[in-house]
Amino acid sequence: MDVAVYGATEKGGVNRQALSQEDVEARNHVVRWASEKGFESFQDHIGNLFVRREGTEANLDPVMTGSHLDSQPTGGRFDGAYGVLAGLEVLHALNDANIQTRRPIEVVAWTNEEGSRFSPGAMGSSIFAGVRDLGAILDVTDPSGIILKDALEETLTAVPVPLRKPDSVTPYCYVETHIEQGPILEERKAPIGVVSGIQGIRRLNLTVTGEEAHAGTTPRRSRKDAFASTVAIISALENLTTDDDDILRFTVGRCEVLPGSPNTVPGQAHFTIDLRHPDNDVLHAVGDKIHTMAKAIGAPCLIEVNDISFVASTKFDKYIMDVIGDAASRLKYDQIIMPSGAGHDAMHMSKICRTGMIFIPCLRGVSHNEAESATPGDLAAGTRVLADTILHFANE
Ligand code: GLV
Ligand code: MN
Ligand code: MN
Repeated sequence: MDVAVYGATEKGGVNRQALSQEDVEARNHVVRWASEKGFESFQDHIGNLFVRREGTEANLDPVMTGSHLDSQPTGGRFDGAYGVLAGLEVLHALNDANIQTRRPIEVVAWTNEEGSRFSPGAMGSSIFAGVRDLGAILDVTDPSGIILKDALEETLTAVPVPLRKPDSVTPYCYVETHIEQGPILEERKAPIGVVSGIQGIRRLNLTVTGEEAHAGTTPRRSRKDAFASTVAIISALENLTTDDDDILRFTVGRCEVLPGSPNTVPGQAHFTIDLRHPDNDVLHAVGDKIHTMAKAIGAPCLIEVNDISFVASTKFDKYIMDVIGDAASRLKYDQIIMPSGAGHDAMHMSKICRTGMIFIPCLRGVSHNEAESATPGDLAAGTRVLADTILHFANE
């Protein structure tokens, strides 16, 4: 709740978008907390923030845990922040209990997981994992035209901790704690989800170019209405992507119509597509179909389709799943093994080290919503399971 102050909204959620002033304040809160407890903090060139608790063998690769502090524009208090704070709580608890571990433990707050202000999302973790190149994304702009490079520089300057070279640390393993963001754990009354993997995500940007014209004088037959074409495309794609089992997820989350005047026929529209499925082949096939269908249906407007990102589906490490499951059993928490519908930084970390995730229930499964909520009991349960899991790997 202390971190939820930064970017707090009237409806009880947070608007703490990546590399904003609110994001900086939350980062500095974590840094202050860490230094009060005697832990050192570092950041890397994409602004990932690390808090380190030394092990008895400082040369060993650290066990990593964490998540993200940035939020959706109308986000909740728990998506991301929970995973960072659960990690800090583990460090604190180990100090309180006077427990030394062989390996260092690092808690990380990844930069820009949400990808709502700057695209693509999971930016910090993907660069850390070598999946993306920092140079390739520095010119990305947010919807108001601010360049990522500038926002990043401001953040790095405003968070007074040393810069650490990108490849100076190789994680031994990575375990992320997160609210489920869906209804399954609550429905099944299980406080712990042992996450088996994450479905694949493909993002596309579409631009529809027509011709501006007078809304009163231009006959329908001679218009090139960019918004009318957009509606036709989206409606056809809704049909294309509706499956009986409701597995394929299709979302148009942003649509901008230009020039945005009531009495001018729109000359241009931009919209985003977020497409998800556990099977990468389906994502390839449906995404490719979107390219051809949009162009065919959008005529006489000109349609440009750009693939922004493709993150293949992830399978988590079986051994980490077992260790998490054993910890939950020992602590007498009901658990279920489940896939993740949402994307997480763990999907990129799984490319460079053994990786797993712990889910806890959230109220009615609601997330990416200011009403997002989780109970103190469930938050504590996830944190206790995380503590046991980290302790296991930190002494391996
Ligand atoms: C993360 O917030 C996602 O979009 O899955
Ligand atoms: Mn998240
Ligand atoms: Mn999110």
